Amino acid sequence: MSSLSTPEKATPINSYSRSDWQQGYLSQPQEFDYPITEITGTIPPELQGTLFRNGPGLLDINGQNIHHPFDGDGMITALSIKDGKAHLKSRYVQTAGYVAEKAAGKILHRGVFGTQKAGGWLANIFDFQLKNIANTNIIYWGDRLLALWEAAQPHRLNPQTLETLGLDDLNGVLAPGAAFAAHPRIVDDRLINFAVSPGLSSKITIYEFDRAGKLLQKQNHSVPGFSFIHDFVVTENYYLFFQNPVTFNPLPFVLGMRGAGECVGFDASKPTKILVIPRKETQPENSSTTPALFSLETRAGFVFHHANAWEAGGKIYVDSICYESFPDVEPGSDFREIDFASLDPGQLWRFCLDLETGVVDRTLLEPRCCEFPTTNPQNVGKPYRYLYMGAGMQPTGNAPLQQILKLDLTTDTRQFWNAGDRCFVSEPVFVPHPQATAEDQGWVLSVVYDASRHRSDVVILDAQDFSNPVAKLHLQHHIPYGLHGSWVDRNF
Ligand code: CO
Repeated sequence: MSSLSTPEKATPINSYSRSDWQQGYLSQPQEFDYPITEITGTIPPELQGTLFRNGPGLLDINGQNIHHPFDGDGMITALSIKDGKAHLKSRYVQTAGYVAEKAAGKILHRGVFGTQKAGGWLANIFDFQLKNIANTNIIYWGDRLLALWEAAQPHRLNPQTLETLGLDDLNGVLAPGAAFAAHPRIVDDRLINFAVSPGLSSKITIYEFDRAGKLLQKQNHSVPGFSFIHDFVVTENYYLFFQNPVTFNPLPFVLGMRGAGECVGFDASKPTKILVIPRKETQPENSSTTPALFSLETRAGFVFHHANAWEAGGKIYVDSICYESFPDVEPGSDFREIDFASLDPGQLWRFCLDLETGVVDRTLLEPRCCEFPTTNPQNVGKPYRYLYMGAGMQPTGNAPLQQILKLDLTTDTRQFWNAGDRCFVSEPVFVPHPQATAEDQGWVLSVVYDASRHRSDVVILDAQDFSNPVAKLHLQHHIPYGLHGSWVDRNF
């Protein structure tokens, strides 16, 4: 069970066992619908709404292992909290691939990250039909609940039942098969998201929608070079993309020997490019004049996730989790056998962009291994003080995430909630208190996998005081490690 401890306390170098960690990547084929009755502590009555989570639910198809968790079918969990009570529902997104593979009882599609149909390269050669697995994020916007996967259209779900309604084109904005990233940003009541079509040059499309889901503006850009862009940031006047220094050799993919994601290589000799694109909100819709894009350079590094960005004193600041190198997806290797210590940790860096001089300065803010950065949603794109992340137990080195870290960026002080040696945390989600008068007044929610019970808990922390969880909701089952999700101030 979880225990409270300070990170300075002496812990063994490996505060986890890999077999414990592996159990959290066992498939969860079952779907659930039940009121949560096992609760430690008290759910705050002011906390009302729904936590939606998405992530791979199946790590094997009928015993045939998938090659990488990013290839796993999306399973949605909805935790509805009202009047101090909680109800859990989980369902698979009924993607065409999920439905077909469930019926066939075997892998029918290649995955981007190396999952192959049985039969070796002969069975996979020239098969470019990738499965839209809808497993990366879930948002509620414009009265639509949407499961996102960055390489294809979102799937729309019924928010009451989580039933899959089909592919969604966002009121005709997305063409059939169009990509739509899994990392939208909500800034000043606008949903802003992008899509990347990778190739020898990469096409980037950026969308801004109003609260009702109506498209306000759209931009298209073409940038030289292959891109692997998972996330972006938005400030008052700019969109910012980090073009990681990667190369792409499509041959092994075309020949059926590797997944497309396994053909991406990291080139540390090249800089990371930071693409700065003016938002130009005054630009009339459908204008043919596309705002100029300019790019700055910084030292090679790999970024999956940004924490936040804002403008101050003529400069742009971007806080991001940056890896020294891209963790390769090796063909033939099994992610379950990962040697954490051999990989670079994700660390929090602050990039300061001087648009006058083109100089980018970078500062390490948090050397501890961390991922899944979250802020108060009201501070997205603006100056902010508090950041919440999943973090490793040790101050250095790469490791699974077993703590929630609250970083006060003004005072450079930290609070930790330690989930316990046999527990692993997921992305923290910050929920503001309805009458909040301070940035950190609210709660931090995270799904925690407990290997000692092979079950998951949802922990609710008081964001101002991590010393003891306000409540722990004990689920009747485990949820495989998830990716992203969001909080909606509504019960459905
Ligand atoms: Co992500």
